[in-house]
Amino acid sequence: MKQRVVSGMRPTGRLHIGHYHGVLENWIRIQDDFDCFFFVADWHSLTTEYADTAGIKDNIREMVLDWVAFGLDPSKSLVFRQSMVPHHAELNLILSMITPVSWLERCPTYKEMQENLDTRDLSTFGFLGYPVLMAADIILYKATRVPVGQDQLPHLEITREITRRFNHLYGNVFPEPEALLTETPKLLGLDGRKMSKSYGNSIYLSDTAEETAKKVMSMMTDPARVRRNDPGEPDVCVAFNLHRIYVPLEKLEDIMPACRNAAIGCVDCKRILIGCMNERLAPSRAKRVEMAANPGFVDDLLLDGSRKASLISDVVMAEARAALKL
Ligand code: TRP
Ligand code: SF4
Repeated sequence: MKQRVVSGMRPTGRLHIGHYHGVLENWIRIQDDFDCFFFVADWHSLTTEYADTAGIKDNIREMVLDWVAFGLDPSKSLVFRQSMVPHHAELNLILSMITPVSWLERCPTYKEMQENLDTRDLSTFGFLGYPVLMAADIILYKATRVPVGQDQLPHLEITREITRRFNHLYGNVFPEPEALLTETPKLLGLDGRKMSKSYGNSIYLSDTAEETAKKVMSMMTDPARVRRNDPGEPDVCVAFNLHRIYVPLEKLEDIMPACRNAAIGCVDCKRILIGCMNERLAPSRAKRVEMAANPGFVDDLLLDGSRKASLISDVVMAEARAALKL
């Protein structure tokens, strides 16, 4: 029996290559080894975007197109949308009854995000309850493993505490899920800061080959390499963090000394990178264009996946209600 995995992503729109190498690639890799449930956490995005919801539908569509075009396979994994399975909300409500507010207030991401997103009012009930909804997402399917990055570990710890508390109060219904930690390379954006949509420094999975070439050409290199004859250092070159991902090892072994003794110029060096990136991304990009031309594709896929997820969550909810003597 395969272990069950549940993971979600908030719909932020088109994914950049940092999302891909950080999260999506890992989801795709584990599809055969686990019984996978991957969902669009649209209710979670309301915790911060409640005042401006106009973009959510488009963001869902763009994100799911990326998921499937780049390798998430709906015939292997259940791909669905949180808000299409209302049991997430029911279980969230029940779990909220047994979750001490102090657990949520001391969650490190709570204060951090409130301070960082200081343009919005995040002093809401829903934002405080973010980890409760996440706990509901996971245990609703009796998942045993949750692929998350380091940043989500405090949330998963709260899920485990809530699960123990439920089982202690009402009987052993839910397995206590464990993290499936993955190494996530921190991708740098064009300007050398962390790649992030809000910095405008991203290369998107869905960018065209030309857009990719233009962006790579604008990418920072070794700042000490002012003239073509100045020697460079790949270890401090921003572009080279992408070479490490996309350029085959044998070529890297030629490029590194050539950079250090100024035998290769940055333009030629970036051309090699552009060639490798576009070659690797081209098949999925073509698939994405094809899928995007079919207007009902994403809606149908999510509807189908959400129906299947509901069949499973229905059974678990019945068990939870019975344990609660409701
Ligand atoms: N909090 C996660 C994030 O921001 C998204 C998420 C919501 C999630 N529910 C989940 C991840 C359940 C794993 C399991 O990335
Ligand atoms: Fe970076 Fe390549 Fe230029 Fe060296 S030659 S600084 S690795 S872009």
